[in-house]
Amino acid sequence: MYLSREEEGIYQGEQGETLRRMMEILVALGDIYGAETLVPVRSVQIAGVSYKNIGEAGLEWISDLQGRVVVPSILNPAGMDLCRWKEMGIEEEFALKQKETIEAYRKLGVTIDCTCTPYQIYDLAGPGDHLAWSESSAVSYANSVIGARTNREGGPSALAAALVGKTALYGYHLDENRRPTYLVEVEADLQGSDYGALGFLVGRIVKDGVPFFRLPGRRPSADELKALGAAMAASGSVALYYVENVTPAPPGLWQPEETIRLGRKEIDEVYAQYPGGGADAVALGCPHCSAEELETIAGLLQGEKVQKVLWVCTARKIANAHPDQVATIEESGARVFCDTCMVVSPATERFGKMMTSSGKALVYLPGLAGVQAGIGSLKECIDVALGRR
Ligand code: F3S
Repeated sequence: MYLSREEEGIYQGEQGETLRRMMEILVALGDIYGAETLVPVRSVQIAGVSYKNIGEAGLEWISDLQGRVVVPSILNPAGMDLCRWKEMGIEEEFALKQKETIEAYRKLGVTIDCTCTPYQIYDLAGPGDHLAWSESSAVSYANSVIGARTNREGGPSALAAALVGKTALYGYHLDENRRPTYLVEVEADLQGSDYGALGFLVGRIVKDGVPFFRLPGRRPSADELKALGAAMAASGSVALYYVENVTPAPPGLWQPEETIRLGRKEIDEVYAQYPGGGADAVALGCPHCSAEELETIAGLLQGEKVQKVLWVCTARKIANAHPDQVATIEESGARVFCDTCMVVSPATERFGKMMTSSGKALVYLPGLAGVQAGIGSLKECIDVALGRR
């Protein structure tokens, strides 16, 4: 791998031990994946924030680092709402460790916003920008909807990119890996959670492929694209997709290896296979709710009282900017939690089954939180929370 004189100096430790170790991570990845050079990144999104996931070893690793990030860097969700953790049922011992983790990141100059939807609150990515983002749904959104370029970084490699300001140039940074490998013809008009269900199906089929969708009817909204990408990243490991005439187009000519046809029947089978009945809690906001989603949820809960636990997860900046919607949601007895989510928080583990409108949570609640999951539309989720279903 070619390193400039300055990069070589960092690699040799001329700028201190932390940067030497960070450069070692970037070069090791570059060597494994055949990168020829490093490339400057515009922003970094760092996973490895929930103490539930990183544990003591991770906390020690982060706390050991010196210096400051040199590009805008933001965090993935933590294991709790940093202010209202007691209401979530988080133990004090966990809260102390989680706060220590956040402080370790703050010391490094990382912006303390913990969200999987950084693109909803900051201008961190534009078409063609190279990034080093970690969270799989954010990676998918950045690559596909924004047209930026990022691999799915691990926590350490994202932090290395944040401190060095560069990442290794391979994978989705290069045109040759950004061509579609599957054509997906959808023969149904989709809406809302249908996109999560579709993503759930397609991710399982294409795995780490690059699907190109032809969707009939209405143009999907930003939230629907967010849900589609998130689900494919969870049931498969899709980091880039295209929607004809909606997302930025693929580079150059391409030929699909396979064509997949899916319709209403297949989408409905997902709902039938994973029903919400019997859920003791409902979780919305995977990925984190946008302002529009908060508005919709508030509209559905206006003047109502929930009979079951209902969590709505979003970024703190979004919640703070929409106090009326948050108040309406909370007056129903539901809770709007920030900085965290139903999958990365240990607080979820006490539930037997959760209902969600997210294809991603449908995969990760059982897989990562040990909680059974059902999927339905946003309206059906709210109806379950209100005890109407
Ligand atoms: Fe975000 Fe948590 Fe879902 S990180 S995408 S809300 S699993």
